[in-house]
Amino acid sequence: MTVCTYEARGDVAVIRMDSPPVNGLGLELRKGIAEGLAKAAADAAIKAVVLTGTEKAFSGGADIREFNSPKMLASPSLHEIIETLDAGTRPVVAAIAGVALGGGLELALGCHARVARGDAQIALPEVKLGLLPGGGGTQRLPRVVGVQTALDMVVSGAMVPAAKLAQTRLFDAVVDGDVVEAAVELARRMDKPQRVRDLSVELPDAAAFFAAAREKVKKAAGPLPAPMKCLECIEAAATLPFDEGMKVEQAGFMFLMNGPESRALRHAFFGERACMKIPDVPEDTPLRPIKSAAVIGAGTMGGGIAMNFANAGIPVHLLEVKQEALDKGLTIIRRNYENQVKKGKLTQDRLDQRMALIRPTLSYADLAQDDIVIEAVFEDMGVKQKVFEQLDAVMKPGAILASNTSTLDLNRIASFTKRPADVVGLHFFSPANVMRLLEVVRGEKTAKDVLATVMKLAKTIRKLPVVAGVCDGFIGNRMIGKYASEALRLLDEGVLPQQVDGALERWGMAMGPFRMNDLAGNDVSWLIRKRHYAEDPQRRREAVADQLCELGRYGQKTGKGWYRYEAGDRTAHPDSEVERIIVEQRKAAGITPRQISDEEIVERLVYALVNEGARILEEGIALRASDIDMIYLNGYGFPLHRGGPMLVADMAGLARVAQRMQDFARLPGADSAFWQPAPLLARLAAEGKTFN
Ligand code: NAI
Repeated sequence: MTVCTYEARGDVAVIRMDSPPVNGLGLELRKGIAEGLAKAAADAAIKAVVLTGTEKAFSGGADIREFNSPKMLASPSLHEIIETLDAGTRPVVAAIAGVALGGGLELALGCHARVARGDAQIALPEVKLGLLPGGGGTQRLPRVVGVQTALDMVVSGAMVPAAKLAQTRLFDAVVDGDVVEAAVELARRMDKPQRVRDLSVELPDAAAFFAAAREKVKKAAGPLPAPMKCLECIEAAATLPFDEGMKVEQAGFMFLMNGPESRALRHAFFGERACMKIPDVPEDTPLRPIKSAAVIGAGTMGGGIAMNFANAGIPVHLLEVKQEALDKGLTIIRRNYENQVKKGKLTQDRLDQRMALIRPTLSYADLAQDDIVIEAVFEDMGVKQKVFEQLDAVMKPGAILASNTSTLDLNRIASFTKRPADVVGLHFFSPANVMRLLEVVRGEKTAKDVLATVMKLAKTIRKLPVVAGVCDGFIGNRMIGKYASEALRLLDEGVLPQQVDGALERWGMAMGPFRMNDLAGNDVSWLIRKRHYAEDPQRRREAVADQLCELGRYGQKTGKGWYRYEAGDRTAHPDSEVERIIVEQRKAAGITPRQISDEEIVERLVYALVNEGARILEEGIALRASDIDMIYLNGYGFPLHRGGPMLVADMAGLARVAQRMQDFARLPGADSAFWQPAPLLARLAAEGKTFN
């Protein structure tokens, strides 16, 4: 397939990049550009060159399909092409429509002039993958747009419309019409190449400017090193000769490329794309149309789920058993939207439109024509059974019947209907209108087109769908159960909730386990524990946690839980009553408390996740390790710069992780079975392999 065409328009050669979808600068395209430039250079009749792309893209930058492959570095590299442009004797003009991103913009900066359509989108987004533009972008951009604009663009990675940069030297012309035509005319008028590298950077008081910028960028960057490295490069552009600046850029790029943070960010980028692929469900599976939806239950979850549909413009019935419950649910939804209006995130018109899309009802008959229904009633199999039997009776053939259950057996729920192939789990996370994660639970009989349809629907309602098999807790909650029980063990051994939370939060978790429980409601996990105790009388009792619940310490909603809360304030205050209960429990169990380091706390909790994650992978409950990581990054406040629990283990080395588990198994009072490395983990560790 031709990815690059060459055409002589009189004395101007037009090289057109045409490699769908976005002219990613993969090896084939790079070869095409280099060949085009060579052909023009060899033709005495050619006086100048125009380099352009399609209407959709000049170039979207590096070809992501080449990431982590040797092709990315193969010759001609982007650097070599830009060097050819620098060394050339004929002017080369970039004609930009659509997007010019990352390496694409760097390529344009290597050209000798640029013409863009006003609506073209310009950015150096490398920072979003924890990197910096490594093709000269940090050195050339400040020379044409000025230091402040270049710094803003490189540090934020944000897209800027070309029209906004029309007054800068980045563009020789910004036009509404045919960019190629305008570029050919400009090329004809140019008598020699003007290299961006030869321009000087104007900045009167560089030292003061960068001192102030450093403060600001450092604060915003948090644990990520890339923004500060970007700043260093811009500073080099402003204070050093071009070639010296290029060396700073190269060193910074290599530093970031080899660092854990960029690895984590790239993992998240690819992991999100991988989630969409289900090996036995072909990508061209015909989808069922979803034009209207229904939600059963207008409680905490149902209300949020209905909002997702209304936000996407899909009409949604909201069904309750009693008018009172329906009114309550609708009032909360309206209040949520009103808060968004107050914050300026939504207009009153939009609020009215969205509320009009949510259609309250007490009657199942109203749902008969809906394409999908999501049940979010009490977590009780008897209640679910009644609901699914009624849905089976009224819903039209082909409608998708989904459950938001977080722990119950989806296969049993499906069996309450005569159409188990149409039943699927859609496990939203609280608050359902905010959290991006959606676990898509695949039942034994769930049809492939049902799966394909809900994956697409998830995108429409702006969720990240991750497929999970049926088991207690699916992927996320099954793992968090192990994490929570290990957190409770740490209390028995000698630490307090605030130490556990502090260690995890300093490591980067949005919230430690105890603060998280107080937010979600300790009664929720208590109910699950009671079910587990009933199912397995030998099961270890979580005495402290149970006692807190017996005292009505359900968390924020009751003003006290693992912490104490003042009315109207979510700040968690350590509470001496909790400490007393913990200390008494230790005494009763005959435990001598010991000091435990932050490092041990973090390792024990994260490795508890990892070990269960390994079992989940081996059982096929998760399709791939990165799916587990995406669940943790998007549903559990796991720090993005760490990439998810499975990547943390990979980066630590699985042999070391297995070794640490064995160390933990030998701690006084440890549950040695808990710390037995999962078979998959042990095998990969022995083979020197990784999960991802
Ligand atoms: P909730 O108690 O806030 O809401 C349940 C609602 O269902 C109530 O408004 C109730 O009136 C209504 N309802 C009960 N029986 C009904 C019936 N037969 N027909 C129609 N409506 C009925 O409960 P929540 O927290 O919203 O949980 C709902 C489901 O979502 C449960 O399966 C739960 O496990 C699951 N879930 C909950 C999460 C959470 O953080 N709360 C997170 C993810 C899933």
